[in-house]
Amino acid sequence: MRLRNVPGSRDTIAKSHYCFDTPTNLKGHWKDFFKNTNPIHIEVGMGKGRFITSLAQNNPTINYIGIEKYSSVLVRALEKQEELLLPNLCFIRMDAEDINDVFGEDEISRIYLNFSDPWPKDRHAKRRLTSVQFMNRYEKLLTPTGRLEFKTDNRPLFDFSLESIPEANWDLTTYTFDLHHNEELMVGNIMTEYEERFSREGNPICKLIALPPKKTYNNKKGNFYLEIHFLLY
Ligand SMILES: C[S@@+](CC[C@H](N)C(=O)[O-])C[C@H]1O[C@@H](n2cnc3c(N)ncnc32)[C@H](O)[C@@H]1O
Repeated sequence: MRLRNVPGSRDTIAKSHYCFDTPTNLKGHWKDFFKNTNPIHIEVGMGKGRFITSLAQNNPTINYIGIEKYSSVLVRALEKQEELLLPNLCFIRMDAEDINDVFGEDEISRIYLNFSDPWPKDRHAKRRLTSVQFMNRYEKLLTPTGRLEFKTDNRPLFDFSLESIPEANWDLTTYTFDLHHNEELMVGNIMTEYEERFSREGNPICKLIALPPKKTYNNKKGNFYLEIHFLLY
């Protein structure tokens, strides 16, 4: 993506109540920030944020966090939010490689990836947001009943993801190579900026939904409940 520098975007982000720069202090404390215990959904690589802003407007009982690497892009989402002042929406400027520094275990209920950068060279495969390395990062922060939804028009990236996601032991529950002709998956679909552009150009949109590996709890509390269960039955 070609980036146009937006002068002052870093300052705008620094001053905003709705945006953070790699907020490690909020790890495990996002419920305190939102002042409620509603589920938290995140979009990684949100761009100008139209998708996540629409979701936040439509679903006031879910909290949304948009993550974007570049200030010049993120500031567009922030400008909109400064008008809307949605209490259930905020943004993080950071590289998603650091995602486990800002979210604690089981803190997130859903992850959206939309039109992620394809990183076509093999030597950059680890940077793809659906690589095994990224899936392992997401597994740590997602609740056991959480899920990941991924949309793209990039067929090589989608084919890569159909292999990398099961390789990371996630369960691919559903996928399509032509979302806009799939009645079931189109229910409630919100178009992103890139989705609108690529589908207008006639490109089919692929989508998949994946569930995280089953977590086995091996802490003292878990063992205690297992022992009680064993004694009772
Ligand atoms: C192709 S754009 C798609 C934007 C938007 N999701 C959409 O569908 O319209 C991908 C966005 O992801 C961001 N991005 C890519 N890799 C990232 C990373 N590792 N961490 C955070 N953001 C990233 C890019 O800066 C860019 O804004």
